[in-house]
Amino acid sequence: MNKNTTTKHKKADQYNDPKHNYLHYWEGRDYENSAEVIAIKSFLKGKHFAHAVDIGGGYGRLCVLLSEYADKVTLAEPSQQQLDIAKDFLQDYPQIEQKLMQADDLQFADKSVDLIMMIRVMHHLPDPAPEFAEIARALTDDGYFLLEIANYAHGVNRLKHALRGKRLPVEPVDIRSPEHRTDDEIAFVNHNPKTVIKQLAHAGMKVERVLSVSNLRSPGLKKALPEGVMLGVEKILQPTLARTYFGPSTFLLIRKAS
Ligand SMILES: C[S@@+](CC[C@H](N)C(=O)[O-])C[C@H]1O[C@@H](n2cnc3c(N)ncnc32)[C@H](O)[C@@H]1O
Repeated sequence: MNKNTTTKHKKADQYNDPKHNYLHYWEGRDYENSAEVIAIKSFLKGKHFAHAVDIGGGYGRLCVLLSEYADKVTLAEPSQQQLDIAKDFLQDYPQIEQKLMQADDLQFADKSVDLIMMIRVMHHLPDPAPEFAEIARALTDDGYFLLEIANYAHGVNRLKHALRGKRLPVEPVDIRSPEHRTDDEIAFVNHNPKTVIKQLAHAGMKVERVLSVSNLRSPGLKKALPEGVMLGVEKILQPTLARTYFGPSTFLLIRKAS
């Protein structure tokens, strides 16, 4: 695929702002973190890779997990502030390579990476076409792309739309409050998974497996139920609710279309 066929996005340096220290975001979100780990392990079980790349991997929250499944792991992240935090967070893992890089301009040769992961980045990409084209270019023919989507079509939203007699939008939905919809605020969109699947197909990729993730994400439930119980139920619900895209986060295991 020609690297220059799609328009590149502007520099993704939003997380250089000191008010977006992503390490703090995860305080009190152990359930969500563990729910994502369950999904990734389910997708990667029994597989091993030569080179795994965590695109937009932040400070490397999930890179150590990836290193259980790959000989080499690269944290590819466009924010220098995130990489600075990573230096400390990953100090016991010097083998995890850290590179300043953006998803629409991956510094990897064609067909050279056999696992690409992109978690919690889609909500910053209202139009992911250039990123998907780049990922398809860098992925080996038999490689895997593990993608998380901030899912607008989740159960609660579907119910709300049904009660109002409205159809779910197919376009990404800006979920920022009106005062934050400015050019300097980080874009924050939720996607309709069916649209994303079409966008992936356009880039020559097809979905092999789906998981519905963070199905019990609710402050009330998190207070009422022990985390072990939440995660036991979550593990059962991830495949069970996958086809209905119930959870607020959808995980996709993707391959190149043959
Ligand atoms: C919400 S954080 C998620 C970090 C990490 N994936 C995780 O789940 O812990 C979003 C990350 O995406 C990165 N990002 C934003 N736009 C990006 C782009 N166009 N290409 C690559 N990464 C991007 C940000 O710098 C930030 O580190």
